[in-house]
Amino acid sequence: MPARRKVDWIYPLALLPALPAPAGSLATLRKRAKACHACPLWQHATQTVFGEGPVSAEMMVIGEQPGDQEDQLGEPFTGPAGNLLDRALAEASLDRGELYVTNAVKHFKFEPRGKRRLHQRATAREQAICRQWLAAEVREVHPRRILALGAMASKAVFGGQFRLTARHGQWMALPGGVMAMATWHPSAVLRTPDAGSREQRYRELVADLKRFASDKTGDD
Ligand code: URA
Repeated sequence: MPARRKVDWIYPLALLPALPAPAGSLATLRKRAKACHACPLWQHATQTVFGEGPVSAEMMVIGEQPGDQEDQLGEPFTGPAGNLLDRALAEASLDRGELYVTNAVKHFKFEPRGKRRLHQRATAREQAICRQWLAAEVREVHPRRILALGAMASKAVFGGQFRLTARHGQWMALPGGVMAMATWHPSAVLRTPDAGSREQRYRELVADLKRFASDKTGDD
């Protein structure tokens, strides 16, 4: 297998970060991101939820933003959406331990409602500010394949015009020789109200993950 080079690195995602990607190894970035106050989201969140996985990962999975449980545990995809993702990955014969799993936004955003914390979507500005960390993770891991889960991650990877409904499961070439695909976010599967449609979405998620897992990156 040819060695992967970082020297001529080209940022492969469509949306640029609002701030320059911080320098440093993945371990340094994780430490620096813990103290990130670049947008107001850190004020109410328990902690920064940085990406997890081997720096040598060939495949990177990008979600949206941490939920309640991820906020408490400090790890991405550890709540209900993570459980569904794990089940779908296993069905697609993808080993989560071999993936670098991260989010487009690294802090939980919520609205307190009694004892509950209701998920709120990060604004476009918060996403753009936080993208410095995603850019730095992509630079350090320099994956060959990227999977975007849901609309927020898909737009970061493919641009604002991207339509998940029309393009999920299709390979697309990104700058720098990276191949990428988008699929349904596990939370969107969980939120689908009707059981039949939910099962169909889940099946589509698994089918897309199987394509992502395969080495064939042509649209054959
Ligand atoms: N949803 C996401 O997009 N990421 C997580 O880590 C958890 C839920």
